Amino acid sequence: MAKSGISPSKRLRLLGAARAAMKNAYAPYSKFRVGAAILTEKGEVFLGCNVENSSYGMTNCAERTAIFAAVAKLGPKVKVRGVAVVNDHGVPCSPCGACRQVIYEFGPDATVYFQSSKGWKETAIADLLPEGFRLK
Ligand code: THU
Repeated sequence: MAKSGISPSKRLRLLGAARAAMKNAYAPYSKFRVGAAILTEKGEVFLGCNVENSSYGMTNCAERTAIFAAVAKLGPKVKVRGVAVVNDHGVPCSPCGACRQVIYEFGPDATVYFQSSKGWKETAIADLLPEGFRLK
């Protein structure tokens, strides 16, 4: 078992789910498809993909799509334990700054799996976002 408490089989399942979600990406502008899967504290998995817009700034990243889907289904108390991110270019892709803040909001202790410049990485969100903002 990894230090996250997420078993290797759960991690594999999460990465597979992220890959499946990636296929639904709407990325006609960047042609860069991203998929994300989140694992909640209760063991549920939610999927997200990037959804772009001709007004580029309206784009929603895969990670935020997945978290918003979980909140829409489970309500505001949802707790995120793990996040897996994949892309269809097989290149390094860690969550952007905005997504880090959103992951931190719902999972300050979450573990994030992503492809880094040094291969697959497993990192605590608090290390990706030191001193993340909280209102309470
Ligand atoms: N993107 C994500 O969905 N997640 C990330 O972690 C990084 C970037 C998307 C946004 C945009 O649709 C495309 O990748 C290129 O930036």
